[in-house]
Amino acid sequence: MKIVSVVGARPQFVKLAPIDQAMRAAGVDHVIVHTGQHYDPMLSDVFFEDLGISAPDVHLGVGSGTHGVQTGAMLGALDGVFDEHRPDWVLVYGDTNSTIAAALSAVKMHLRVAHLEAGLRSFNRRMPEEHNRVLTDHAADLLLAPTQVAVDHLIDEGLAERTVLVGDVMTDVLYTVRDEVAGRPSPLVAELGLTPGEHYVATIHRAENTDEPDRLAEVAAGLGGLDRPVVLLAHPRVVARAAAHGIPLTQGSLIAHAPLAYPELIASALHSAGVVTDSGGLQKEAFLLRVPCTTVRTETEWVETVDLGWNVLAGTAAEIAAGVTRPQPSPTDAAPYGDGHAAERVVEVLTAS
Ligand code: UD1
Repeated sequence: MKIVSVVGARPQFVKLAPIDQAMRAAGVDHVIVHTGQHYDPMLSDVFFEDLGISAPDVHLGVGSGTHGVQTGAMLGALDGVFDEHRPDWVLVYGDTNSTIAAALSAVKMHLRVAHLEAGLRSFNRRMPEEHNRVLTDHAADLLLAPTQVAVDHLIDEGLAERTVLVGDVMTDVLYTVRDEVAGRPSPLVAELGLTPGEHYVATIHRAENTDEPDRLAEVAAGLGGLDRPVVLLAHPRVVARAAAHGIPLTQGSLIAHAPLAYPELIASALHSAGVVTDSGGLQKEAFLLRVPCTTVRTETEWVETVDLGWNVLAGTAAEIAAGVTRPQPSPTDAAPYGDGHAAERVVEVLTAS
C-alpha cells in the first residue's frame, strides 16, 4: 500500500510524526510531500529532527504569498507529484492552505483522499482555516475525526458515512514527548532568569489577532500588563506585522522570544503558571499537561478544554488578565482527545480499505 502525506506548516509536522512512525511499523510505502509553506528552520526542520520524522521525499518550496498565490502554487506543483506516485491514499492534515491544495488536486485526479483531524469547526467564516477544513471535509473520501464533537459536526453536514472516530494524533506525540522531557527544566527559565511556575508562555499568530494594527496593539498591551513575565514565542507573522506597525513585542511584562522546538515548548509550558495562546494545538497541549490556558479568540474548535474548565476564551486585554489570574481549574481525568494511540488506528483504517 502506498500513501502520500502532504504537509507544509508547523502543526502538520507534529501530526505527521506519529503517523510516519505507525506507517513504517505497518510496512506502508509512505511518501512525504512538504509544500514549503513553512520554510524557517525553527518552523520546519527542527520538527523533523526532534520528532524522528523521515525526511520529505518531495519538497515543493512554495514559500509565502497571499492565500490564492500560495494555494495555487501548491496546486500546480502537486498534480505532477500525484501523477508520478499514484498512491492508494492521499492523506491531508488539519486546516492549512497545504491541506486544501492537496485535497483539491488529489480528488480531481480521482485519487482517494483521507482527511486527518476532520470535523473541527469554529463556525467563524472569517478564519481562512474554517474554509480550508469545511471544503476539505466535503471533498475527502474518508474523514478521520479526533473527537466525538467533530464526528457530530460531520453527521450534521451529511458526512456520517465517510466518518471514522480515531482520536487525536497530537495526543500521541504529546504523551511521548512529555515523558521524554519530564524532569528537564524549562529552557526559558535559565535563559531569561525567570522563576519556575511564575511566568506565562504565550503564542499569538492568527490573522485575526495580528493583521489589524489596533487589534495587535491591544493584544500586545494586554500581555504586557499581566501580573507575571510573559514569554511570547513569536511566530514570524507576528514579528513582521508588529515591525510594520511599530508595535513593541517586548513591553511591560512581555518578552519576545524566538519560537521553540517542540520538546522545548512542552518543557516550557510544563514549568509555566499558564499558557496564553491563539493556537489550536497549544490549547490542547496545555489541557493534556494540565496547565491552565487562556485563549485569545472569540471561539475555539477544542470546546472540551473549555467545558472541562482548563481553557477560557478572552477577547479583550481585561479578559486576558482575568483569564490568567482565575482560580486553578478542578482536576479531571477526562480524556476527550483519545488514548495516545490514534495514529495506529489511522493506519489500520487506511490499510483496511
Ligand atoms: C499557517 C496556517 C495556520 C496555522 C499556522 C501554524 C493557513 C491559512 N494558516 O498560518 O492555520 O495555525 O500556519 O503556524 O494555512 N513566514 C515566515 N517563515 C515561515 C513561514 C511563514 O517568515 O517559515 C511568514 C511570512 O511572512 C508569511 C507569514 O509568516 O507571509 C504567514 O505564513 P503562512 O504560512 O501564510 O501562514 P501562518 O500564519 O503561518
